[in-house]
Amino acid sequence: MIDIHAHLLPEVDDGADSIEETLRLARAAVKEGITHTVLTPHHNLNWFINEKDKVIKLTEMVQKEIEAAGIPLTVSPSQEIRMNEEFAEEILAGNYLPLDQKGKYYLVEFSWNEFPDFARSYLKQMLDAGMIPIIAHPERQNPFIKNIDLLRELIDMGCLSQVTASSITGGYTRRIRRAAKKMMKENLIHVIASDTHHHVKRPHNMVEALRIIDKKFSPEYKDYLVNNATKIYNSEEIQPFHK
Ligand SMILES: [Fe+2]
Repeated sequence: MIDIHAHLLPEVDDGADSIEETLRLARAAVKEGITHTVLTPHHNLNWFINEKDKVIKLTEMVQKEIEAAGIPLTVSPSQEIRMNEEFAEEILAGNYLPLDQKGKYYLVEFSWNEFPDFARSYLKQMLDAGMIPIIAHPERQNPFIKNIDLLRELIDMGCLSQVTASSITGGYTRRIRRAAKKMMKENLIHVIASDTHHHVKRPHNMVEALRIIDKKFSPEYKDYLVNNATKIYNSEEIQPFHK
């Protein structure tokens, strides 16, 4: 299993606060059946600025530490990119890190409370350039919780979306859990990821979330969400889910 959204890099954002915590999260990932984690530190979120080159270097360091500790986990560098006014210009200039090797998929995060006017046009510019935005955890963002049609509009444009495992297990609020289920029911979610930040406070919860999806949705939908993470990493096309 591949995890396409996780905050394992030490001391760069609100994720792991030390290399020891990075290793704890790496061990926890393996325990959950994860063989590859895409490292997605926040970029352009408040004071979290994690430029491409820095993330690449840190990821190499973390991979060495993981290997030295004998943990069978591969990591690769990426970013959780906050949508801001410079977004379109920066992404088209190649200044952001994709989730995959070919530069097809990017993890895009919106503010909790607003969907900026320029966002539609920026997403469209990306799509026109052959880059596919993956909207990070829409079930945790107010604009999408309040208006599921906004999410539908973006998916219809060609965007994809990622649900966070803990949203399903009840790691956040009941409102978030309900939103996640509704979005999944309406076929607006394409991939699941942990968005783990801390081994106790914000753990992976992937196994538990997948158990719930298997039982409350279907084994096929569970497989769809897991397999799409691999497809994204391998720059393959994602098809809509057919019941
Ligand atoms: Fe995140």
